[in-house]
Amino acid sequence: MAVDANYDEGLIPSYDLPDPLVDSEGQPVQSVEMWRQQRRPHILQLFEEHVYGRIPGPASQTTAEILEEGAAFDGRAHRQQIRLHFHGNGEHTHADILLYAPTRATNPAPAFLGLSFFGNHAVTDDPAVLLSCAWMRPDANSGIVDHRASAASRGVNASRWSIERIIDSGYALVTAYCGDFDPDFDDGYANGVHPLFFHPGQIQPAANDWGTIGAWTWGLRRILDFLEICPQIDATRVAVMGHSRLGKTALWAGATDERFAMVISNDSGCGGAALSRRRFGETIARINRTFPHWFCNNFRVYDDAEQTCPVDQHQLIALMAPRPVYVASATEDRWADPKGEFLAALHAGPVYELLGKQALTIDRLPEGGKVCNDGDIAYHLRVGGHDVTDWDWQQWLYAADRHLQA
Ligand code: GCU
Repeated sequence: MAVDANYDEGLIPSYDLPDPLVDSEGQPVQSVEMWRQQRRPHILQLFEEHVYGRIPGPASQTTAEILEEGAAFDGRAHRQQIRLHFHGNGEHTHADILLYAPTRATNPAPAFLGLSFFGNHAVTDDPAVLLSCAWMRPDANSGIVDHRASAASRGVNASRWSIERIIDSGYALVTAYCGDFDPDFDDGYANGVHPLFFHPGQIQPAANDWGTIGAWTWGLRRILDFLEICPQIDATRVAVMGHSRLGKTALWAGATDERFAMVISNDSGCGGAALSRRRFGETIARINRTFPHWFCNNFRVYDDAEQTCPVDQHQLIALMAPRPVYVASATEDRWADPKGEFLAALHAGPVYELLGKQALTIDRLPEGGKVCNDGDIAYHLRVGGHDVTDWDWQQWLYAADRHLQA
């Protein structure tokens, strides 16, 4: 954790939040139509231009190859491993999807979709899951040797994915490794999916083009394209979920693709659910310095200049409206600024209300262990650190039951 980060509420600068319901000419947005036709597209465009960069459409050619399938979890789930091949510009790359569908379902199942940090083999102890061959970040605790997964990598993140609980609750779980879409290091975008879309002679995205979070987001959207033709899944009932950097990604996916029926951000922090203007914990300057590849280059303009950014993260949450959005924080995860995450969820409320939906039903950060799960915006503050636990999944399943189960 950074020594120079501020953790003192008393040292938070005074700030004004841009109002999601006042347009750039200062006019109040008072109708659903004005939100849909003008204000929402404009806010989305501001996030593209200044924060995450623009994302291209599907690859010029995509094919799906079934690598493996079989029964899992004592027959309670059907497992499929699918390789999506992406072609463009004479380049090719692929991503491996792991899908567990509940066998007891008689109808296409609703699903949770989320990317992982260390590959499909890391999210479960299921020995039939193929070990990823892709580049991985160094992490001795995850059994990574020379940037590759090893047998010791199996199941290392299983505690973050309550797969059996998800299956037994009637949902499918769909996941893929984020690094299949773009390895998480600053390589000038030479690998991953970016080169599939470069113009002739181009070797770098433009300052308002996608970075790595954009590439991961693109991946989630391409998986959703696949789920639309997957008979076991009801693609109109897919909740996109992500933790931390992948929570930032889940939010950007929900904002840019309204096919996602529900959006869950866990401990997503700076550039995710947390308000940048609070400068509490991680800041824009700090995230751009440590992870120069995550956002678009234009985002660096706001290093130590948050107040001049035309958007803040409550407006990102507002882009989910009217769909259910769930922001989750953890008491000890101060780097991600739990209160800033809560306030962003709170200040998205007026947009939900304009659309006839229920905003957060509390107006103060709750105590640790408390859940505010009765609106279309939900929030919880888990007791503990930067992680995903079974307790988090229990709350998200409860929310999904309200919103996604017929
Ligand atoms: C770092 C980073 C965060 C990020 C986190 C993660 O802590 O500073 O912005 O959310 O990694 O992805 O685990």
